Amino acid sequence: MTEFRMDADHAGLAMDRGVQGVLGKGLNRVEGVLKVMGAATYGYEHQLGTEVAYGYLITTPVAKGKVIGFDTDAARAMPGVLDIIVDDPRIPRQAASFGPAANGNAAIDHFDQVLGAAIATSFEAARAAARAVRVDIVAEQGRFDMMADIANASGPPKSSRLQDVAKGDIDAAMTTADVTVDQVYTTPNQVHAAMEPHASIATWDDGKLTLYSSLQILNVAKAVLARSLGIDATAVRIVSPYIGGGFGGKLLGPEAVMAAIASQRLDRPVKIAMARAQLFHNVYRRTDTHQRIRLAANADGRLTAIGHDSVVSQGPDGGFMEPVALGTIALYAAAVRHFSHKIVTLDMVQAGAVRAPGEAVGMLALETAIDEMAEQLGRDPIDFRKLNEPEVDPTTGAPYSTRRLVECLDEGARRFGWARREAIPGSVRDGEWLVGMGVAAAVRINLLVDSEARVTLGTNGRATVETDMTDIGTGTYTILSQIAGESLGLPMHCVDVRLGDTDLPPGSGSGGSFGAASAGSSVALACEDIVAELASRMKARPEDMTLKDGHAIAGNRRVPLEELVGDAPIIAIGKISQGSNARTFSQAAHGAQFAEVGVNAVTGEVRVRRMLGVFEAGRILNAKTARSQAIGGMIWGIGYALMEHAVLDKRHGQFVNHDLGEYHVPVHADVPHLDVHFIEDIDHHANPIGVKGLGELTISGAGAAVTNAIYNACGVRVREFPMTLDKIL
Ligand code: MOS
Repeated sequence: MTEFRMDADHAGLAMDRGVQGVLGKGLNRVEGVLKVMGAATYGYEHQLGTEVAYGYLITTPVAKGKVIGFDTDAARAMPGVLDIIVDDPRIPRQAASFGPAANGNAAIDHFDQVLGAAIATSFEAARAAARAVRVDIVAEQGRFDMMADIANASGPPKSSRLQDVAKGDIDAAMTTADVTVDQVYTTPNQVHAAMEPHASIATWDDGKLTLYSSLQILNVAKAVLARSLGIDATAVRIVSPYIGGGFGGKLLGPEAVMAAIASQRLDRPVKIAMARAQLFHNVYRRTDTHQRIRLAANADGRLTAIGHDSVVSQGPDGGFMEPVALGTIALYAAAVRHFSHKIVTLDMVQAGAVRAPGEAVGMLALETAIDEMAEQLGRDPIDFRKLNEPEVDPTTGAPYSTRRLVECLDEGARRFGWARREAIPGSVRDGEWLVGMGVAAAVRINLLVDSEARVTLGTNGRATVETDMTDIGTGTYTILSQIAGESLGLPMHCVDVRLGDTDLPPGSGSGGSFGAASAGSSVALACEDIVAELASRMKARPEDMTLKDGHAIAGNRRVPLEELVGDAPIIAIGKISQGSNARTFSQAAHGAQFAEVGVNAVTGEVRVRRMLGVFEAGRILNAKTARSQAIGGMIWGIGYALMEHAVLDKRHGQFVNHDLGEYHVPVHADVPHLDVHFIEDIDHHANPIGVKGLGELTISGAGAAVTNAIYNACGVRVREFPMTLDKIL
């Protein structure tokens, strides 16, 4: 087994010497054909025979109060109904909770909170029965309006990784500076809205639970599910081979716990999918934010102070805090630095991690303010950013592992035609459209988490990679195939990758953009051991042996792998641990986002005309899946800048637009040609394979590039997002 230690060996892996030529290539997804044929089995689709029963969640119609009783008689008498479960102490109380989830005290924490489930022989019967259950409630007035409650905000929880920073006196710096920006930006509640809803099938066999579901970090989900049910984690298996989107919300949904409870009680498989409207209230939301940005600069364009003070909201008992200033902390030089976070507690579903927690909303505000400052200084916004490029992390003093932000800005400017931009807003007109260009920096903290993989080189010369890592649509199957193929000298069709099953070695799961680095490293390290074993059988040093097309070549010998393997497969475990990450370096991925928009001078309508993202995220494992992730992130940027808004009824704590018809996200007609370019710089301080997180990086700054382009087009600066046409007119 190979476990990686940063000081011991940080370069020269077998995959670095590889000559197979699959790593980095823009190869098609290995599971792509299965997906387009409908043959990839998602959580709700696993076939467990005719005994399977269907559940539908019973939820509360109010956001705050107490449940004093249920009348289930009418529901129980309906055709096909098998059980109405409202009395079990294990019924989950909060959304995708990391904590124990018992709803013992009957308190209602948020609107549409799960109270139980109706179970029947068909989905329709279960749904009808759920609706026939009468819930007796004593309702109370809840608190739902963060902005109205800002005076009652409290500081970050001790558990928060992000603590406040106060270097120097920002008030004094603002008073003495030549030029200042002091603005408040707000962003609304947003929801995950993954295409595939949360869905689970539970089945018990001899005291052991198997859950088929749509979850992104399986070993965590397994632990939480076991704790929720009061059983040992060894009695739980989770199977989640394909996931139709998971952006932080596919951790563990209440439907999984309810399916497990129901299946145990009825002694038959039970499947439950959350309805779309239920998802809007029962999956972690992205908090609304109130962000004050203060910038102070000298007339020469150098920043002297940066302040980023945020207020976010959280539900009862929520341990997470949106780390709003995460991207700001190490981005620009300035001696005076002031970053604070405050939380308002509301009677709403818990706020949690939604793709690029921190940077998505934080960089929207910061990078808009940077654009405002550049304009006040009369400087080009790219030149202004370059002028404030730090040598080392300006908050901690740590050196950067790799940082190519300036190159991203310069390369982007060249490719995008930035030189054609007119500095004065409203200068470019195309019929009734005002046209403008905007730029923003992108940054995303780089993470590494524990991950383990098993690689088996079989007697037939084929390799199998096994880990409970997941593929949430990002391309994990493909990049792990490429890493193993390059390391072992095998073409892609000779590598099988098995993911998404907790019976396999525990992988990192997908989240925080740590998946490729963490799971990828574990696979590369397992391959190291196999290569060492093959080399010893070839009586060569690993670095003197070439592996290609299923053969080992050393000196004048070329031996097929199956011959070298012989009678028993070669099996290796690779392990990477969080602790091996070189935290003495400031680690982040960087990029530059460019947008050109048209703003209709008559209606205020905004059309994004083109975008370019230039990103540096360490080694790129697959040019095509990386580009696809980048495009997805940039589209998300269009969404949160212009459309996304979970509209809250502040009287009742309900999102009124709880479906994809009214919760607007960009559709094809909203998305123009998007261009992506990578600047590759293998980061040896980050992890063995030199990969940095990419997915969330590409969301960061994308919205600000759009809003800065709007300003350049028409001279309107909106600081209350989303930037809908009523605010622009
Ligand atoms: Mo994500 S918010 O780390 O899935």
